[in-house]
Amino acid sequence: MKEFLCACLFLIAMPSAKADDGYRLWLRYELVNNSTLLSNYRNAVTSVYLPGTSPSLLAAKDELQMGLEGLLGKKVSFQNTLANAQLVVGTPASSSQIAALPLSNQLSKAGDEGFVIVSTTRSQKKIIAIAANTDIGVLYGVFHFLRLMQTQQNIQHLAVTSAPKTKYRLIDHWDNLNRTVERGYAGFSIWNWHTLPRYIDQRYIDYARANASIGINGVVVTNVNANALILTKEYLEKVAALANVFRPYGIKIYLTGRFSAPIEIGKLKTADPLNAEVRQWWKNKIDEIYTNIPDFGGFLIKANSEGQPGPQDYKRTHADGANMFAEALAPHKGIVMWRAFVYSNESPEDRLKQAYAEFKPLDGKFNNNVAIQVKNGPLDFQPREPFSPLFGAMPKTPLFIEYQLTQEYLGFSTHLVFMAPLFKEVLNADTYEKGKGSTVAKVLDGSLDGQALTGMAGVANIGNDINWTGHPFGQANWYTLGRLAWDHQLSSAQIANEWVRQTFGNSKPLVDTVEKMMLSSREAMVNYMTPLGLHHIMGYGHHYGPAPWFDKASRADWNPVYFHKADSIGIGFDRTANGTNYLSQYAPEVRKQFEDINTCPEEYLLWFHHVSWKHTMKSGRNLWEELCYRYYAGVDSVRVMQKEWNSLEKLVDKQRFNQVKMLLAVQEKEAVWWRNSCLLYFQTFSKMPIPPSYEKPDQTLEYYKNLNFPFAPGNGR
Ligand code: GCU
Repeated sequence: MKEFLCACLFLIAMPSAKADDGYRLWLRYELVNNSTLLSNYRNAVTSVYLPGTSPSLLAAKDELQMGLEGLLGKKVSFQNTLANAQLVVGTPASSSQIAALPLSNQLSKAGDEGFVIVSTTRSQKKIIAIAANTDIGVLYGVFHFLRLMQTQQNIQHLAVTSAPKTKYRLIDHWDNLNRTVERGYAGFSIWNWHTLPRYIDQRYIDYARANASIGINGVVVTNVNANALILTKEYLEKVAALANVFRPYGIKIYLTGRFSAPIEIGKLKTADPLNAEVRQWWKNKIDEIYTNIPDFGGFLIKANSEGQPGPQDYKRTHADGANMFAEALAPHKGIVMWRAFVYSNESPEDRLKQAYAEFKPLDGKFNNNVAIQVKNGPLDFQPREPFSPLFGAMPKTPLFIEYQLTQEYLGFSTHLVFMAPLFKEVLNADTYEKGKGSTVAKVLDGSLDGQALTGMAGVANIGNDINWTGHPFGQANWYTLGRLAWDHQLSSAQIANEWVRQTFGNSKPLVDTVEKMMLSSREAMVNYMTPLGLHHIMGYGHHYGPAPWFDKASRADWNPVYFHKADSIGIGFDRTANGTNYLSQYAPEVRKQFEDINTCPEEYLLWFHHVSWKHTMKSGRNLWEELCYRYYAGVDSVRVMQKEWNSLEKLVDKQRFNQVKMLLAVQEKEAVWWRNSCLLYFQTFSKMPIPPSYEKPDQTLEYYKNLNFPFAPGNGR
């Protein structure tokens, strides 16, 4: 019996080296497995001085304690004085001893949220100081320091000064009050509205930690297709409970505002933004919100888009609508994020032109606490889109960018797609607003037009799956959003490298291989889904899988056939002056490049041009052959990823290794599905053969057309 008990205790105490369910995300704090580094780290950090009792400093202390204990495999003592400490953490206000350190130069560059991490000396002793001007800056500094150790960096000569490049760094949840998640593929919403406000799930705290660790400072908790009930007293108490959890982590809560709420819950007859009663209703409601949540961030609003109510219902403009909210929020320092994702139900105009047409004339007409939130591309989060022409077209208005982390059009949560290259492609795009070098990044960080209100948002890919994002690699996209919002100059490779080291481990073959897989994954997906500028050819409604043949939607611009326009002559959407002239919305330099079929980058070719099947491409192949080549290359890349992953079996814990292996098999199967069905369908127009050297599609076009997915996830409101 005794032996049995001992064996049980041993089993319980054993670290689960062979299993990792992914819950800890990139905050795993595993013991440093390099003995030289481990002893360096242990020597550098034996005792810590972190004075202060504010909630953010206590959160920093908890994190540091937990992180160091995990990484160093031993208890680290927290001292009451600086005297013997080697790691000194705080603000000049939290400790006069920290104020006495020679850090004022660096701190002057750290701003309100930034931090410095420096190796320095005090009384002839080497110390490391993590300092900031604010408590939240200290927490960010602590997370950065732990990241340095988790990624096994040298911490002997530290000289880091870091401050965020955008002010509002947001995760937007499309979570409904019934816990379904619009376009969510990782389970149900993590917000349990039924048990809030009294029951605080540990998950809320871990969510806040994860966000703070990458600098996210705002969370929109509800769907843009909004429900007015969230603004009722009962729900505001629940929202306030979440806000209390997030506050120590520097995260503000935002809500989505249902434009017709004054009618639905306020019993008014109208929601006209120029009506005095309506304005008063919103003012009272917003005051009520601030009584519950003194640091409420503000509203994200989808109006007059896809059937949502908005100011145009009353013949008012987006500015009239946004300014009504802005006025009521201003005394509390709240902001309005008004979405530019609009297209009218009735207009026959090229859908891509509509946002610019509606918003550009309003430049300069918004109050100064309004930002216009623009999706990265002009359509809708496709695998590849050119940058939205609104970037560079509204110099008098703050613009936030909205990316989509959830993979609505990128293979749901079964495809491994690392999005940093997609995000960076847009950030680096040149709008030519003020001549060469006027990148989207400079529009966003405010440096191009002198904007103070700057921001970046990602539509969440988070749900209550144990590992948060369904696919273990989905976590990397959440991570990327935070890191790029903090510093858009980080490269995709750098972000991938950091993430892999923290999430899987530091061994060189592991890091090199996974980084390579990640960096090639986005292009692979573009190739097997929508190569050469094809777009919006996915399944109707649920958006699962390919359906380029679909033509039964109630509106023309929900049909794939509207977007690819394949016919006997060629394929692609003519958006030049001979077509819809969408290109006229870009600066002349951008337009010129895209307009000429010979200078248009091939990755955007069919986005802007209707191109003959016989057109000669840069490779020397004709367009049809090139299309075949790309679709096959996409599938091949997935097969390469499978091999690469399989080579890592001994280096990755069993649980996640098997998960990713199975998911890659699903991805391969679906990539083949995309390739075969698209090529068989487009072949009915090109009338040319798939080159015989390629493996033959193993199903007919009819087979693919008859596939049906009544319960594809993410589709319910
Ligand atoms: C896409 C998505 C919708 C979502 C919309 C939006 O169209 O399919 O579910 O509501 O984007 O961004 O508002």
